[in-house]
Amino acid sequence: MLSPSDIVAKKQKGEKVSMITAYDFAFAQMAEAAGVDQILVGDSLANTMLGYKSTREIGMNEMLIFVAAVCRGAPNTHVVADMPYLSDKDPQTAYDNARRFMDLGAASIKLEGTPAGVIEFLRSKDIPVCAHHGLLPQTAENFKQKGKTEEEARAIEAAAKFTDDLGCFEMVLEHIPEELGKKITDEVSAVTIGIGGGKFTNGHVLVMHDALGMHARKLPPFATKFVDMYALGVEGFKKYIDSVNAKV
Ligand code: KIV
Repeated sequence: MLSPSDIVAKKQKGEKVSMITAYDFAFAQMAEAAGVDQILVGDSLANTMLGYKSTREIGMNEMLIFVAAVCRGAPNTHVVADMPYLSDKDPQTAYDNARRFMDLGAASIKLEGTPAGVIEFLRSKDIPVCAHHGLLPQTAENFKQKGKTEEEARAIEAAAKFTDDLGCFEMVLEHIPEELGKKITDEVSAVTIGIGGGKFTNGHVLVMHDALGMHARKLPPFATKFVDMYALGVEGFKKYIDSVNAKV
């Protein structure tokens, strides 16, 4: 399993870092068998696994179940556990929740933005932290690209540098212009993981359901579908139904 320092070493050697979301035992096994560097148990599971519209609709109870399943399925892969909405609302709450993830086998936690005093406190307790800048789904008013105006770009860059100085080993850069992704990647020691952050980030993350084509809905502009599991699944179910009917 790659440790946070192994992941930083990849940046230093100019190697790319692959991260994919997974949420359950079976898909975690597949991601580990494929050799992905990191699995993110994202709070996007609110949408992909539970059918909610917003990631704000889930909390620690749901996340703990899925993080535990992924850790069981991928015991040799670096699992990043996503802090759900308000689970990091103050330093002590954040630490207590992060500790629960780490005790299940997560290797690091991810949180959105710069909640006051939280990253400092987690780092003082040796919790490896992956930051998240740009589009922040837990609090965003819309899902448009962030950092298009100079003012917004400067704020994102400042937040990225701030979390780098606080000792985050990694940061997700979501849906920002490519040149901003490059600038931040060049300026910080942390590993930058893009999702719609352009080609210059140190690595990339995709939501598993987009990458594997697990749903019929339109993909975000920055996502690529590598296989069509939705079509395969429907076909498989139809064959099953046909086989049941054939036995009547
Ligand atoms: O929850 C999630 O899947 C994420 C990724 C989009 C980075 O935060």
